[in-house]
Amino acid sequence: MVLLDVSGLSKHYGGLYAVHDVSLQVEEARIVGVIGPNGAGKSTLFSLIAGAVRTDSGHVVFAGEDVTKMRPYQICERGLARTFQVAKPFLDLTVLENVTIAALVRKPNVHAAIDKAESVLKFVGLAHRIRAESRTLGTADRKRLELARALATEPRLLLLDEVMAGLTSIETRQAVDLVREIRDKGVTVLLVEHVMQAVMALCEEILVLHEGKLLAKGSPAEIAAHPAVIEAYLGKGYAHA
Ligand SMILES: Nc1ncnc2c1ncn2[C@@H]1O[C@H](COP(=O)(O)OP(=O)(O)O)[C@@H](O)[C@H]1O
Ligand SMILES: [Mg+2]
Repeated sequence: MVLLDVSGLSKHYGGLYAVHDVSLQVEEARIVGVIGPNGAGKSTLFSLIAGAVRTDSGHVVFAGEDVTKMRPYQICERGLARTFQVAKPFLDLTVLENVTIAALVRKPNVHAAIDKAESVLKFVGLAHRIRAESRTLGTADRKRLELARALATEPRLLLLDEVMAGLTSIETRQAVDLVREIRDKGVTVLLVEHVMQAVMALCEEILVLHEGKLLAKGSPAEIAAHPAVIEAYLGKGYAHA
């Protein structure tokens, strides 16, 4: 079943198309990657899908419903959550408080939201920092907090924007395992990532954005061997790496 169906999506800023006529489908229970150079339009695409930025044209259909004109919280209520490339927690609040606020999207009262937040924080490996002020977290733990806030809303589709950027190789491996576990729980994942080993290991399908347009899509093997992709992004020699 197609969970996310994006058609003809465009957004321009002045004379520049950040996203230009992008169409894509994401099948339920898949892990799909989005790659492309800096400025290709990846984060803008996520913002358009999540309703944070208004589209110029095109449609976003989520679980059979047209959500193009909906507010971000309405889209979130329907089961679509995203993380931000630059994490945006409430810095003065504790880790638990931040995730509890997110859980209130779904839970009827604070007690239920706290329970949910605690279990999500345990799942992402942040149980030991639960009382910490969010501003005291390092890079990896901030990424985990960002992920926990998204998961606390109980999404059917999770958009991950560079959650592995700045992680050590051990932390990256942990993050790869975590994304797989999330999918195994039945959550569909669309992820933007520059860490190519992670993308290649995780994704069943990869979409390549270049200058706002969809340049290619295919399996990791197809993408790694795609001449236009190698030229535009991966750099010569990658296919033999
Ligand atoms: N709010 C904005 N105002 C003006 N230009 C923007 C804005 N957001 C993004 N852009 C531009 O749109 C292009 C795509 O940006 P972005 O989606 O962040 O790319 P990526 O995430 O692939 O690096 C870039 O050229 C960027 O400068
Ligand atoms: Mg980005």
